[in-house]
Amino acid sequence: SGPDLFAPERCNSRGFDLTHSQTLEALFEARDGFAKSAWQAAPLLVSGETANDAPTEAVLNPADPSDRVGSVVWATAADVEAAFATATPWAAPPTERRRVLLQAADLLEADHAQLFTLLTREAGKNLPDCVAELREAVDFLRFYASQATDAPCAGIFTCISPWNFPLAIFLGQISAALAAGNAVLAKPAQQTPLIAHRAITLMYEAGVPRSALQLLPGAGDIGALVTSDARIGGVAFTGSTATALRIRSAMAENCRPGTPLIAETGGLNAMIVDSTALPEQAVQAIIESAFQSAGQRCSALRCLYVQEDIAPEFTKMLLGAMQCLTVADPWHLSTDVGPVIDAAARDGIAQHIAQARAEGRVIAETTAPATGTFIAPTLISVPGIAALEREIFGPVLHLATFKAHQLDAVIDDINATGYGLTFGLHTRIDDRVQHVCERIAAGNVYINRNQIGAIVGSQPFGGEGLSGTGPKAGGPHYLTRFLQADRKEVSEQW
Ligand code: NAD
Ligand code: ALA
Repeated sequence: SGPDLFAPERCNSRGFDLTHSQTLEALFEARDGFAKSAWQAAPLLVSGETANDAPTEAVLNPADPSDRVGSVVWATAADVEAAFATATPWAAPPTERRRVLLQAADLLEADHAQLFTLLTREAGKNLPDCVAELREAVDFLRFYASQATDAPCAGIFTCISPWNFPLAIFLGQISAALAAGNAVLAKPAQQTPLIAHRAITLMYEAGVPRSALQLLPGAGDIGALVTSDARIGGVAFTGSTATALRIRSAMAENCRPGTPLIAETGGLNAMIVDSTALPEQAVQAIIESAFQSAGQRCSALRCLYVQEDIAPEFTKMLLGAMQCLTVADPWHLSTDVGPVIDAAARDGIAQHIAQARAEGRVIAETTAPATGTFIAPTLISVPGIAALEREIFGPVLHLATFKAHQLDAVIDDINATGYGLTFGLHTRIDDRVQHVCERIAAGNVYINRNQIGAIVGSQPFGGEGLSGTGPKAGGPHYLTRFLQADRKEVSEQW
């Protein structure tokens, strides 16, 4: 008997209705109350708190570098050793683990105003993204709680997450590992330690024991330490493909053979719009897929193929919709596109745009604030997806055209990138949907809609090839990777 995926606690979070004026007023009042807070993050270990005189580093708001959101004390190699020495799998019965994880989900929802404030000021998320992020985090907690099991756990699981979903992916990995009964060493992205610290504090409040969950804020050096140790039973990693490959090598050298690595990585995601597509629907889907979350989703659309016959008119519509986007401080409700995560990210994306500009390939650039790490949504022409040498992780869309008879060649080019995360198709031809779905190499395929925002439990999410190892997050097989493959088999004879 498998998990009851339709149990009452499996209901997805209801989120917040941002069109309801009273909800919004209460939210703004609470959020404004937190606006002056200065948060602190530090390692959270069984062995105790960090010394008072430990060096701290300021955490700044990407939209406004003069806004100091808080400070962080980074974990040291000694903290990592202490965490390994004290980590103990969570031996409580599955019913108790499930209760605690459900309690954590409730606490998270109750803490929404503080979490939204942090998500905005530390990670640059606008309000709709804050709502979506909290919903996903809560959904993951409830989904994996419903699968808590007494099957043998893997032992100590290292969870390493990216900054672009600092709450949802961070807690998604952790809650799966805990539902399986493991001890977790959590290493959040270095750009978002404050959100991670708040989330772990709430997990403790809910009843997760410290010995089962420790926080190690740090950069790649701390990540390397917690993924190259023979004591780990597995690693859950979400981030770039390059880092996943580094972790795989480190594990091959240092860990026991067969130690599982769940890696959810990047993508070069495409969408095809043919001449039968509904233009208004397709344009809306493109704007959301390419520019929502400032294009900082692994699922985001990077390369759009439009059938040549409709391309001039369609591009005109798309440009009109791009000009309507408000690029501004995410604190304001009207903001569609906030900042990218930091100056290094902004400079890398700006360099890509500058090169395209020098080659005369920029079709349109909108405007963005001069201070803060903003990038104006930009459309760049390319001959095809092969021209993209890397994942440009920001609000930049590449546009190619194709002739009707080239459809299969386009699919071959998309597959040839080696990535396989999301893919979108806009067409009104039934047979074409079936044909393309069969041929495209992508983990999540979306027809006549946007290609972001997979829903936990309904749309298990994850890629293939260079985009990830599977199993899909929020799907029925994910938790099994956090367990020992089989129970001990005892054969008796008396
Ligand atoms: P990143 O690879 O730079 O960092 C991810 C995490 O790995 C961070 O916590 C970082 O500190 C850690 N890290 C860095 N070097 C390490 C090492 N040598 N050993 C262990 N850990 C190390 O990625 P990022 O910039 O934080 O995130 C953006 C990337 O994540 C994009 O490529 C995006 O597509 C991908 N992503 C994928 C998914 C998915 O579900 N497939 C979801 C979100 C983001
Ligand atoms: N799960 C996230 C999405 O689908 C990354 O956009």
